[in-house]
Amino acid sequence: MLVRIVGSGAMGIGIAQVFAAAGHEVELTDQEKEIAIKAKAGLEKQLARLVEREKIEEKDKEDIMARIKVTSATDDVSKIDLLLEAVSESTELKRRIFEDYDARCKDDCIFATNTSSLSITELAAGLKHAERFIGMHFFNPPAVMKLVEVISGEETSEATVEKVVELSRELGKTPVICREAPGFIVNRLLIPMLNEAVELLDLGVASKDDIDEAMKLGANHPMGPLALADLIGLDVCLNIMDTLYKETGDPKFRPSVRLKKMVRAGKLGRKTGRGFHDYR
Ligand code: 3HC
Repeated sequence: MLVRIVGSGAMGIGIAQVFAAAGHEVELTDQEKEIAIKAKAGLEKQLARLVEREKIEEKDKEDIMARIKVTSATDDVSKIDLLLEAVSESTELKRRIFEDYDARCKDDCIFATNTSSLSITELAAGLKHAERFIGMHFFNPPAVMKLVEVISGEETSEATVEKVVELSRELGKTPVICREAPGFIVNRLLIPMLNEAVELLDLGVASKDDIDEAMKLGANHPMGPLALADLIGLDVCLNIMDTLYKETGDPKFRPSVRLKKMVRAGKLGRKTGRGFHDYR
Protein backbone atom coordinates (compact mmCIF):
# COMPACT_ATOMS: atom_id res chain seq x y z
CA MET A 1 0.00 0.00 0.00
CA LEU A 2 1.21 3.52 -0.73
CA VAL A 3 0.54 5.85 2.18
CA ARG A 4 1.02 9.60 2.14
CA ILE A 5 1.37 11.16 5.57
CA VAL A 6 0.77 14.89 5.74
CA GLY A 7 2.49 16.43 8.76
CA SER A 8 5.82 15.22 10.14
CA GLY A 9 5.54 16.21 13.80
CA ALA A 10 5.90 13.63 16.58
CA MET A 11 2.74 11.82 15.49
CA GLY A 12 3.32 12.02 11.72
CA ILE A 13 6.84 10.63 11.80
CA GLY A 14 5.86 8.01 14.39
CA ILE A 15 2.97 6.85 12.23
CA ALA A 16 5.30 6.79 9.21
CA GLN A 17 7.55 4.43 11.18
CA VAL A 18 4.60 2.14 11.99
CA PHE A 19 3.55 1.84 8.34
CA ALA A 20 7.11 1.42 7.07
CA ALA A 21 7.88 -1.22 9.70
CA ALA A 22 4.84 -3.16 8.45
CA GLY A 23 6.20 -3.09 4.89
CA HIS A 24 4.22 -0.21 3.38
CA GLU A 25 5.69 2.51 1.18
CA VAL A 26 5.37 5.89 2.88
CA GLU A 27 5.54 9.39 1.46
CA LEU A 28 6.06 12.02 4.14
CA THR A 29 5.24 15.68 3.58
CA ASP A 30 5.12 18.88 5.57
CA GLN A 31 4.57 22.55 4.84
CA GLU A 32 8.24 22.74 3.95
CA LYS A 33 10.29 19.79 2.78
CA GLU A 34 13.06 20.70 5.25
CA ILE A 35 10.75 19.98 8.21
CA ALA A 36 10.02 16.47 6.96
CA ILE A 37 13.71 15.85 6.20
CA LYS A 38 14.57 16.86 9.78
CA ALA A 39 11.84 14.59 11.18
CA LYS A 40 13.18 11.66 9.16
CA ALA A 41 16.70 12.32 10.45
CA GLY A 42 15.32 12.34 14.01
CA LEU A 43 13.69 8.96 13.42
CA GLU A 44 16.97 7.57 12.10
CA LYS A 45 18.68 8.59 15.35
CA GLN A 46 15.93 6.94 17.44
CA LEU A 47 16.19 3.75 15.42
CA ALA A 48 19.99 3.79 15.74
CA ARG A 49 19.54 3.86 19.53
CA LEU A 50 17.18 0.87 19.30
CA VAL A 51 19.81 -0.97 17.22
CA GLU A 52 22.45 -0.16 19.85
CA ARG A 53 20.17 -1.53 22.56
CA GLU A 54 19.64 -4.63 20.39
CA LYS A 55 15.86 -4.03 20.21
CA ILE A 56 15.90 -4.11 16.40
CA GLU A 57 18.41 -5.23 13.74
CA GLU A 58 20.40 -2.78 11.61
CA LYS A 59 18.55 -4.26 8.58
CA ASP A 60 15.15 -3.34 10.14
CA LYS A 61 16.34 0.21 10.56
CA GLU A 62 17.57 0.39 6.96
CA ASP A 63 14.33 -1.08 5.60
CA ILE A 64 12.20 1.39 7.55
CA MET A 65 14.31 4.35 6.46
CA ALA A 66 14.27 3.21 2.80
CA ARG A 67 10.49 2.92 2.77
CA ILE A 68 9.95 6.49 4.00
CA LYS A 69 10.40 9.06 1.24
CA VAL A 70 10.16 12.76 1.84
CA THR A 71 8.00 14.36 -0.81
CA SER A 72 6.21 17.62 -1.61
CA ALA A 73 2.47 18.19 -1.45
CA THR A 74 2.51 18.97 -5.16
CA ASP A 75 4.24 15.70 -6.22
CA ASP A 76 2.21 13.04 -8.06
CA VAL A 77 -0.64 11.76 -5.87
CA SER A 78 -2.36 9.48 -8.38
CA LYS A 79 -1.09 6.25 -6.81
CA ILE A 80 -1.78 6.99 -3.15
CA ASP A 81 -4.02 4.37 -1.48
CA LEU A 82 -4.27 6.07 1.90
CA LEU A 83 -3.89 9.74 2.73
CA LEU A 84 -3.28 10.18 6.45
CA GLU A 85 -3.28 13.68 7.86
CA ALA A 86 -1.44 14.43 11.11
CA VAL A 87 -1.08 18.22 11.14
CA SER A 88 -1.92 20.53 14.04
CA GLU A 89 -5.45 20.67 15.39
CA SER A 90 -7.12 23.23 13.17
CA THR A 91 -10.30 22.32 11.31
CA GLU A 92 -9.55 25.04 8.76
CA LEU A 93 -6.04 23.82 8.04
CA LYS A 94 -7.09 20.16 7.85
CA ARG A 95 -10.02 20.96 5.54
CA ARG A 96 -7.73 22.94 3.25
CA ILE A 97 -5.40 19.96 2.96
CA PHE A 98 -8.18 17.46 2.27
CA GLU A 99 -9.83 19.73 -0.31
CA ASP A 100 -6.54 20.06 -2.12
CA TYR A 101 -5.96 16.28 -2.23
CA ASP A 102 -9.63 15.55 -3.00
CA ALA A 103 -9.31 17.11 -6.41
CA ARG A 104 -6.21 15.06 -7.30
CA CYS A 105 -6.37 11.62 -5.64
CA LYS A 106 -7.77 8.47 -7.25
CA ASP A 107 -11.36 7.57 -6.52
CA ASP A 108 -10.72 4.70 -4.12
CA CYS A 109 -8.12 6.50 -1.98
CA ILE A 110 -9.05 6.46 1.71
CA PHE A 111 -8.76 9.79 3.51
CA ALA A 112 -7.90 9.44 7.19
CA THR A 113 -7.29 11.99 9.90
CA ASN A 114 -5.29 11.48 13.07
CA THR A 115 -7.21 14.28 14.78
CA SER A 116 -7.35 13.94 18.55
CA SER A 117 -10.86 15.37 18.94
CA LEU A 118 -12.12 17.39 15.97
CA SER A 119 -15.31 16.43 14.11
CA ILE A 120 -14.72 13.80 11.43
CA THR A 121 -18.03 14.81 9.81
CA GLU A 122 -17.00 18.44 9.57
CA LEU A 123 -13.59 17.56 8.12
CA ALA A 124 -15.26 15.38 5.47
CA ALA A 125 -18.12 17.72 4.59
CA GLY A 126 -18.18 18.73 0.94
CA LEU A 127 -15.53 16.25 -0.21
CA LYS A 128 -16.22 14.05 -3.25
CA HIS A 129 -16.16 10.86 -1.20
CA ALA A 130 -17.14 11.49 2.41
CA GLU A 131 -17.93 7.77 2.65
CA ARG A 132 -14.20 7.06 2.37
CA PHE A 133 -13.25 9.56 5.07
CA ILE A 134 -12.41 8.23 8.53
CA GLY A 135 -10.61 8.94 11.80
CA MET A 136 -7.53 6.76 12.34
CA HIS A 137 -6.29 7.89 15.71
CA PHE A 138 -2.87 6.72 16.88
CA PHE A 139 -1.40 7.30 20.33
CA ASN A 140 1.85 8.85 21.39
CA PRO A 141 4.41 7.30 20.92
CA PRO A 142 2.83 5.61 17.87
CA ALA A 143 5.46 2.88 17.52
CA VAL A 144 4.89 1.71 21.08
CA MET A 145 1.19 2.29 21.77
CA LYS A 146 -1.02 -0.59 20.65
CA LEU A 147 -4.32 1.22 20.17
CA VAL A 148 -5.88 2.73 17.07
CA GLU A 149 -9.28 4.37 17.44
CA VAL A 150 -11.20 3.94 14.19
CA ILE A 151 -13.77 6.72 14.12
CA SER A 152 -16.64 7.01 11.69
CA GLY A 153 -18.27 10.30 10.82
CA GLU A 154 -21.84 10.77 9.63
CA GLU A 155 -21.08 9.64 6.06
CA THR A 156 -18.32 7.06 6.63
CA SER A 157 -19.23 3.72 5.01
CA GLU A 158 -19.07 0.34 6.73
CA ALA A 159 -16.66 -0.82 4.02
CA THR A 160 -14.23 1.97 4.92
CA VAL A 161 -14.45 1.10 8.62
CA GLU A 162 -13.77 -2.56 7.84
CA LYS A 163 -10.77 -1.71 5.64
CA VAL A 164 -9.19 0.51 8.29
CA VAL A 165 -9.85 -2.02 11.06
CA GLU A 166 -8.16 -4.69 8.96
CA LEU A 167 -5.26 -2.37 8.11
CA SER A 168 -4.76 -1.46 11.79
CA ARG A 169 -4.50 -5.15 12.67
CA GLU A 170 -1.96 -5.66 9.86
CA LEU A 171 0.09 -2.87 11.44
CA GLY A 172 0.17 -4.89 14.65
CA LYS A 173 -2.26 -2.55 16.42
CA THR A 174 -5.52 -3.24 18.19
CA PRO A 175 -8.35 -1.23 16.65
CA VAL A 176 -11.45 -0.10 18.53
CA ILE A 177 -14.42 1.20 16.60
CA CYS A 178 -16.21 4.29 17.73
CA ARG A 179 -18.73 6.74 16.35
CA GLU A 180 -17.85 10.38 16.27
CA ALA A 181 -18.21 12.16 19.60
CA PRO A 182 -16.06 14.91 21.13
CA GLY A 183 -12.74 13.38 22.21
CA PHE A 184 -13.84 9.94 20.96
CA ILE A 185 -13.13 7.38 23.73
CA VAL A 186 -9.62 7.84 25.09
CA ASN A 187 -9.26 11.61 25.02
CA ARG A 188 -12.71 12.15 26.50
CA LEU A 189 -11.63 10.16 29.54
CA LEU A 190 -7.91 10.87 29.63
CA ILE A 191 -7.58 14.60 28.97
CA PRO A 192 -10.09 15.74 31.66
CA MET A 193 -8.08 13.60 34.09
CA LEU A 194 -4.88 15.40 33.08
CA ASN A 195 -6.71 18.75 33.35
CA GLU A 196 -7.81 17.79 36.86
CA ALA A 197 -4.22 17.02 37.81
CA VAL A 198 -3.33 20.59 36.76
CA GLU A 199 -6.20 21.87 38.96
CA LEU A 200 -4.84 19.89 41.92
CA LEU A 201 -1.44 21.45 41.36
CA ASP A 202 -2.98 24.91 41.07
CA LEU A 203 -4.93 24.44 44.30
CA GLY A 204 -1.70 23.52 46.07
CA VAL A 205 -3.08 20.14 47.08
CA ALA A 206 0.21 18.41 46.25
CA SER A 207 3.50 18.96 44.46
CA LYS A 208 3.89 18.02 40.80
CA ASP A 209 6.12 15.11 41.69
CA ASP A 210 3.68 13.78 44.28
CA ILE A 211 0.72 14.08 41.90
CA ASP A 212 2.66 12.08 39.31
CA GLU A 213 3.93 9.55 41.84
CA ALA A 214 0.42 9.08 43.24
CA MET A 215 -1.06 8.09 39.88
CA LYS A 216 1.91 5.90 38.96
CA LEU A 217 1.77 3.90 42.15
CA GLY A 218 -1.88 4.30 43.08
CA ALA A 219 -3.43 3.69 39.66
CA ASN A 220 -0.57 1.78 37.99
CA HIS A 221 -0.20 4.35 35.21
CA PRO A 222 3.14 4.08 33.37
CA MET A 223 3.71 7.79 33.89
CA GLY A 224 2.08 10.49 36.04
CA PRO A 225 -0.57 12.82 34.57
CA LEU A 226 1.63 15.93 34.50
CA ALA A 227 4.48 14.05 32.84
CA LEU A 228 1.99 12.59 30.36
CA ALA A 229 0.56 16.04 29.61
CA ASP A 230 4.14 17.15 28.89
CA LEU A 231 4.60 14.18 26.56
CA ILE A 232 1.34 14.84 24.68
CA GLY A 233 2.02 18.60 24.52
CA LEU A 234 0.18 21.12 26.68
CA ASP A 235 -1.13 22.91 23.60
CA VAL A 236 -2.64 19.64 22.37
CA CYS A 237 -4.19 18.96 25.81
CA LEU A 238 -5.67 22.47 25.90
CA ASN A 239 -6.97 22.12 22.38
CA ILE A 240 -8.79 18.91 23.28
CA MET A 241 -10.25 20.43 26.47
CA ASP A 242 -11.44 23.43 24.42
CA THR A 243 -13.15 21.10 21.95
CA LEU A 244 -14.78 19.03 24.71
CA TYR A 245 -16.03 22.18 26.42
CA LYS A 246 -17.21 23.86 23.23
CA GLU A 247 -18.94 20.80 21.80
CA THR A 248 -20.71 19.68 24.98
CA GLY A 249 -21.15 23.00 26.81
CA ASP A 250 -20.58 20.98 29.97
CA PRO A 251 -18.60 22.88 32.67
CA LYS A 252 -16.92 19.65 33.75
CA PHE A 253 -14.76 20.03 30.64
CA ARG A 254 -13.64 23.61 31.40
CA PRO A 255 -9.90 23.93 30.74
CA SER A 256 -7.72 24.77 33.72
CA VAL A 257 -6.59 28.40 33.80
CA ARG A 258 -3.11 27.23 34.71
CA LEU A 259 -3.00 25.03 31.62
CA LYS A 260 -3.94 28.05 29.52
CA LYS A 261 -1.23 30.15 31.14
CA MET A 262 1.41 27.52 30.49
CA VAL A 263 0.45 27.38 26.82
CA ARG A 264 0.44 31.20 26.56
CA ALA A 265 3.93 31.23 28.05
CA GLY A 266 5.12 28.77 25.42
CA LYS A 267 5.73 26.02 27.99
CA LEU A 268 4.33 23.22 25.91
CA GLY A 269 6.05 20.23 27.53
CA ARG A 270 8.81 18.06 26.15
CA LYS A 271 8.79 19.63 22.70
CA THR A 272 9.78 23.03 24.08
CA GLY A 273 11.96 21.66 26.87
CA ARG A 274 9.68 23.06 29.58
CA GLY A 275 6.27 22.06 30.83
CA PHE A 276 5.29 20.87 34.27
CA HIS A 277 8.71 19.23 34.34
CA ASP A 278 12.00 20.48 32.95
CA TYR A 279 13.56 18.62 30.00
CA ARG A 280 16.50 20.95 29.29
N1 3HC B 1 10.18 2.29 17.93
C1 3HC B 1 10.05 1.04 18.38
N2 3HC B 1 10.10 0.72 19.68
C2 3HC B 1 10.31 1.72 20.57
C3 3HC B 1 10.46 3.06 20.16
C4 3HC B 1 10.38 3.33 18.78
N3 3HC B 1 10.49 4.58 18.28
N4 3HC B 1 10.66 3.82 21.25
C5 3HC B 1 10.62 2.99 22.31
N5 3HC B 1 10.44 1.72 21.90
C6 3HC B 1 10.32 0.52 22.73
C7 3HC B 1 11.53 0.37 23.64
O1 3HC B 1 12.54 -0.35 22.98
C8 3HC B 1 10.94 -0.40 24.79
O2 3HC B 1 10.84 -1.78 24.42
P1 3HC B 1 10.94 -2.96 25.53
O3 3HC B 1 9.67 -2.86 26.34
O4 3HC B 1 11.02 -4.20 24.70
O5 3HC B 1 12.15 -2.65 26.34
C9 3HC B 1 9.52 0.14 24.90
O6 3HC B 1 9.22 0.69 23.63
C10 3HC B 1 9.39 1.22 25.96
O7 3HC B 1 10.31 2.26 25.69
P2 3HC B 1 11.29 2.91 26.79
O8 3HC B 1 11.95 1.84 27.61
O9 3HC B 1 12.16 3.89 26.09
O10 3HC B 1 10.33 3.77 27.68
P3 3HC B 1 9.46 3.43 28.93
O11 3HC B 1 9.44 2.01 29.31
O12 3HC B 1 9.87 4.44 29.93
O13 3HC B 1 8.01 3.78 28.39
C11 3HC B 1 6.28 5.10 27.45
C12 3HC B 1 7.75 5.03 27.79
C13 3HC B 1 5.94 4.05 26.38
C14 3HC B 1 6.04 6.49 26.89
C15 3HC B 1 5.45 4.81 28.75
O14 3HC B 1 5.83 5.67 29.77
C16 3HC B 1 3.97 4.98 28.51
O15 3HC B 1 3.29 4.10 28.02
N6 3HC B 1 3.45 6.18 28.87
C17 3HC B 1 2.04 6.51 28.64
C18 3HC B 1 1.88 6.94 27.22
C19 3HC B 1 0.45 7.27 26.88
O16 3HC B 1 -0.46 7.20 27.69
N7 3HC B 1 0.26 7.69 25.65
C20 3HC B 1 -1.07 8.12 25.16
C21 3HC B 1 -1.15 9.59 25.20
S1 3HC B 1 -2.74 10.16 24.61
C22 3HC B 1 -2.54 10.32 22.96
O17 3HC B 1 -1.50 10.09 22.41
C23 3HC B 1 -3.75 10.77 22.18
C24 3HC B 1 -3.53 12.12 21.55
O18 3HC B 1 -4.63 12.38 20.72
C25 3HC B 1 -3.41 13.21 22.58
